[in-house]
Amino acid sequence: MAKKSVEVQVFDSDFALLLRESVTYEIKMESRPKSKFRTFVFVCVLLAVTGIVYFGYFCPDQVCALSSRETVWSDWTFRTPIQDNLGKPLQTHSEPVSSKLSNPGLSYDDVLNENFQFDMKAHDVMVFLHIQKTGGTSFGRHLVRDLDLERPCTCQRKRKRCYCFRPNRKEIWLFSRYSTGWKCGLHADWTELTSCVDSELDKNEGDKVKRRYFYITLLREPISRFLSEFRHVQRGATWRNSRHWCGGHVATREELPLCYKGDSWKGVTLDQFAACPYNLAANRQTRMLADLALVGCYNMSYMSPVERDRVMLASAKKNLASMAFFGLTEYQKIAQYVFEETFNLRFAVPFEQHNATVSSVTLSMIRQDQLETIRRLNDLDLELYSFAKALMFQRFERLKSKDPLFKERFAHLGELPGRQSDSFDWDQVIYDDNNITQK
Ligand SMILES: *[C@@H]1O[C@H](CO)[C@@H](O)[C@H](O)[C@H]1NC(C)=O
Ligand SMILES: *[C@@H]1O[C@H](CO)[C@@H](O)[C@H](O)[C@H]1NC(C)=O
Ligand SMILES: *[C@@H]1O[C@H](CO)[C@@H](O)[C@H](O)[C@H]1NC(C)=O
Repeated sequence: MAKKSVEVQVFDSDFALLLRESVTYEIKMESRPKSKFRTFVFVCVLLAVTGIVYFGYFCPDQVCALSSRETVWSDWTFRTPIQDNLGKPLQTHSEPVSSKLSNPGLSYDDVLNENFQFDMKAHDVMVFLHIQKTGGTSFGRHLVRDLDLERPCTCQRKRKRCYCFRPNRKEIWLFSRYSTGWKCGLHADWTELTSCVDSELDKNEGDKVKRRYFYITLLREPISRFLSEFRHVQRGATWRNSRHWCGGHVATREELPLCYKGDSWKGVTLDQFAACPYNLAANRQTRMLADLALVGCYNMSYMSPVERDRVMLASAKKNLASMAFFGLTEYQKIAQYVFEETFNLRFAVPFEQHNATVSSVTLSMIRQDQLETIRRLNDLDLELYSFAKALMFQRFERLKSKDPLFKERFAHLGELPGRQSDSFDWDQVIYDDNNITQK
């Protein structure tokens, strides 16, 4: 086990702040009999020397965070596409606040292995980070029902659960609501998933192998998403079983007070909804994508609110760019194409674009001052979303330019010969989603 501290310089707009990310690299080793101890030590030394040479001279920047190097986050724009992690497994994970739980970081083998392509037959796992009201329910169903797989997921209608096994072994390759359930907590966020998925899978499949994790998520235009969440809570949803695990413990009631008394916030008005300072709907996407350990988790006195916001947004952008795939709810066709090209998988149905959802109706009914309040409450999400949008189009263009059959492909997404199209019932989604309050 080797630990190394890495300092990351962050420039965000005009300010510079210094973050310390403690990055731990773990290389799992099997225990060996004592007689082989010397050989083992020798191999270790050899590995270390090779490693130093490798990291020092050959390893590309985007893979090797081991060397102290300055990362300028405001340059995380589109002049430095190196940072974009399209199609690649998550690299490192830091959790300086907590005592280490588990680390899904890159193993030595992974670093040496140049082939980052998702490999269902190896030890690769896709992890779906499902943010509330982003269209993740229908996407999650597409993942388990509509992918054209060598070994399709087997679904049980009543339990709303599918088994998604690798073609060659009885191990799962998909970590999501409909395949594994909310194993890391209801609508688990980045902080929760990265400290939990690996140990959850170890429980079932043992810890002999180092898995690679390919994170995927969906984002939605923040105002629509906020209004959609408002309507959902108004109808009685609470997500009260969410754990908000961070830094080795669940967020306490003092850290995260409830906005309502009783069982739910049913019947809440938009003004009340927007006025509650603890409402997690505000800037939800940024919070759920950020490494909350960097901001002292839910302890608001850990740093100033301005600093907290800045670090959280920078971290969310970084984590988003480090995801193998993300889609935007407003661009379903592009999301489908980018997913399919990234993972070399095909959906048997075309993703549908629903613009006439509940929230667009709500949007036309709210006052100007309410709209301004919602904008202010979701300022980080608005910035994250525009970052995401630019990055998504960049990824799209990159894949498109490599695809000689693009026009044909894009015009016929979801049409597979020999598979019946199974169009998606949107009403069913809304009905179903309404009942999320239970774990
Ligand atoms: C929150 O952070 C402050 C400042 O770092 C610290 O003094 C305080 O003990 C923390 N509170 C809890 C509950 O951990
Ligand atoms: C969605 O919006 C697009 C562009 O605004 C429009 O062309 C399309 O017809 C709309 N679809 C539906 C189902 O309303
Ligand atoms: C929630 O599910 C129950 C049965 O499981 C059903 O009776 C009820 O109508 C559902 N509620 C909504 C709002 O869909």
